[in-house]
Amino acid sequence: MEKIIIEGGYRLQGRVKISGAKNAALPIMTACLLSDEKCVIRNTPDLVDVASLSAILGELGAGVERGEGGTVEIKVESEENSTAPYDMVRKMRASFCVLGPLLARRGRAKVSLPGGCVIGLRPIDLHLKGLRALGARIDVEGGYVLAEAPRLRGAKIYLGGPFGSSVTGTANVMMAATLAQGTTIIECAACEPEIEDLAHFLNKMGAKISRLGTPRLIIEGVDSLHGADYEIIPDRIEAATYIIAAAITQGDVTIESARLEHLAAVVDKLSEIGVVVTGEDKSLKVIAPAKFSSTDLVTLPYPGIPTDLQAQFTALLSLADGISVVTEKIFPDRFMHIAELNRLGANIRKEGPHAIITGASELSGAPVMASDLRASAALILAGLVARGKTIVNRVYHLDRGYERIEEKLSSLGAQISRIEDERGSSEEVIYT
Ligand code: EPZ
Repeated sequence: MEKIIIEGGYRLQGRVKISGAKNAALPIMTACLLSDEKCVIRNTPDLVDVASLSAILGELGAGVERGEGGTVEIKVESEENSTAPYDMVRKMRASFCVLGPLLARRGRAKVSLPGGCVIGLRPIDLHLKGLRALGARIDVEGGYVLAEAPRLRGAKIYLGGPFGSSVTGTANVMMAATLAQGTTIIECAACEPEIEDLAHFLNKMGAKISRLGTPRLIIEGVDSLHGADYEIIPDRIEAATYIIAAAITQGDVTIESARLEHLAAVVDKLSEIGVVVTGEDKSLKVIAPAKFSSTDLVTLPYPGIPTDLQAQFTALLSLADGISVVTEKIFPDRFMHIAELNRLGANIRKEGPHAIITGASELSGAPVMASDLRASAALILAGLVARGKTIVNRVYHLDRGYERIEEKLSSLGAQISRIEDERGSSEEVIYT
């Protein structure tokens, strides 16, 4: 198994280009199951998750070809197999998004339940509620969701749950509704830019979705969808991770191909602690102070601060001047990184869904263990500034969501490299 080694203490400087958004690319790829014509998706990040989903789409009869510069071409060749097996779905929860398209286009689907993961409970009741409201017959048997509907019917659906809406739940129901008979209204739809991007792609395929990016989506069903050529938005979580990397190393970094409008809450919170982010023409400039102040923050559905940045903010605030409280409102147990950050000298206490962070004057390098994708990013950020050497184990998580991270950080002046663990390991890979 591979590990990443970072020699901390180097100030980041220069320019870094952000890749296409993972969480837009994945549902958009599943949307290609809604047509038998070829779809071309541009700016698709080169990530393990994209490769895993390509394999699942292959299993479901689609040809997936990766070309130059992030272009992926997808064309369904056969609609015979509509089963997404456990061994594939458990590796990547986003693959559960094949359910809506399969059901809408083929009238049937058998998709493994994804199960829980290290960031906490990950129920799918809202996905099933929405699809049932569209007239699907759904049974759960032997760890699989079995869904059937000769033709879905438009309906009014409320998709709110105890922690707000569901991102992939909205994706599943919206995709299914595009081919339903009649009009569907989804209330309390997720407003994340990745869902808006998916809706734009579906409209390019011939769907009739309006009020994109709002909590009230209106979808007029159509009889069929055609192929489309589409470019995915930049990854706002990757962009913010590099902004925080610049801030934590007191660097001077320009982030290219990022959209400031997707980062309003993040930039506002950073300005509160003294980190200035300015933007023009899709590039953002980060100017970091020598010392930043503490703050309180709460993760919320978009346009709030994303849960996918909670760990990175926690790493940053572990060096702030004073006490910060970070409250996790989406996945209240998503705090596995705290113990590892404390191994690097941070002073963080967990109390329920809160992390109480007393800013340390410095961190010092140590071996640490990554537990999920964003926790890995947080450990890398801490390693960039920790005195001495930090070794991050289980880096396969990073490859699921950050394209060429060592290369990008090295180009900014970080001392970071990847090595193969000499002892080797047969350790079971744990997915989120
Ligand atoms: C998406 O996961 C993202 N994944 C996650 O990114 C992200 O952390 C999450 O949204 C929240 O923003 C993709 O887009 C592929 P949810 P998803 O359903 O859709 C509860 C990353 O690091 N809920 O929006 O699975 C749920 O428990 C990943 O890139 C229900 O109650 O998340 C949570 O509290 C990790 N019932 C809240 O809703 C349901 O049926 C939001 O979860 C579904 C969810």
